[in-house]
Amino acid sequence: GSSGRPTVIARKKPIVVIVIGMAGSGKTTLMHRLVAHVQTARKRGYVLNLDPAVTSLPYTANIDIRDTVNYKNVMKEYHLGPNGGILTSLNLFATKFDEVVNLVERREGELDYVLVDTPGQIEIFTWSASGSIITEAFASTFPTVVCYVVDTPRSLSPVTFMSNMLYACGILYKTRLPLLLAFNKVDVAQHQFALEWMDDFEAFQAAVENDSSYSSGLSRSLCLVLDEFYRNLRNVGVSAVTGVGMVDFFAKLDESGTEYMQTY
Ligand code: GTP
Repeated sequence: GSSGRPTVIARKKPIVVIVIGMAGSGKTTLMHRLVAHVQTARKRGYVLNLDPAVTSLPYTANIDIRDTVNYKNVMKEYHLGPNGGILTSLNLFATKFDEVVNLVERREGELDYVLVDTPGQIEIFTWSASGSIITEAFASTFPTVVCYVVDTPRSLSPVTFMSNMLYACGILYKTRLPLLLAFNKVDVAQHQFALEWMDDFEAFQAAVENDSSYSSGLSRSLCLVLDEFYRNLRNVGVSAVTGVGMVDFFAKLDESGTEYMQTY
């Protein structure tokens, strides 16, 4: 430029979003919606499926674990049940994950988002060595965000909400990555109640104690833990079915990506 400094063209890296959530929370439907939104917003996406047991995907994946490992064969070969088969398939895939990251890296200049779907049983990803290996491989190369999908209509009870948030808190603690809570199915139940509970821990504590008819120092402590937890995350209400909240989702995702860049 005119200042005499060389012009540096900053190459923006894509944001990786790892979508996790309890079985039935709507991960796969949300993935489908995210993929469609990326396309209509004229952004460039790259899509990974890490669920070896899914029979049909509503979206097209660029990289699909099912192309590399056949989980039914893995079950037979290692004499495993369905969960052991999924876990072992993920372990086998994780050993080659540097190749996957290399593939994405080679295309990083052409990509805005990398969307990652995970196995239906959340603990297979969150409590396994391969889940950590895969998360680490991404996080050491790209700004990486974890999206935790909440089944909003199933979290209306304060005690269920608390359990769900403690689980999410465990994920934040374990991954130490920016966390985006996606309150899904807002077409069935609005997430306003959650915003109020997240904003006012005393109101939430009163609701918990009312719900469980169990008043204790433990629930007070847990509410305080969660209060601290909420300060470390972003949230958005979405409906994977109607598409409500997509613009907001990507705005929060971009903020989370920026947080990653400033923190790591
Ligand atoms: P796994 O198969 O365990 O991976 O489930 P999942 O978390 O991928 O959930 P999936 O996308 O299969 O959705 C579970 C159920 O919730 C399906 O019947 C969906 O149609 C429904 N569902 C998902 N998102 C929404 C939503 O935003 N609103 C409503 N009303 N239903 C939804």
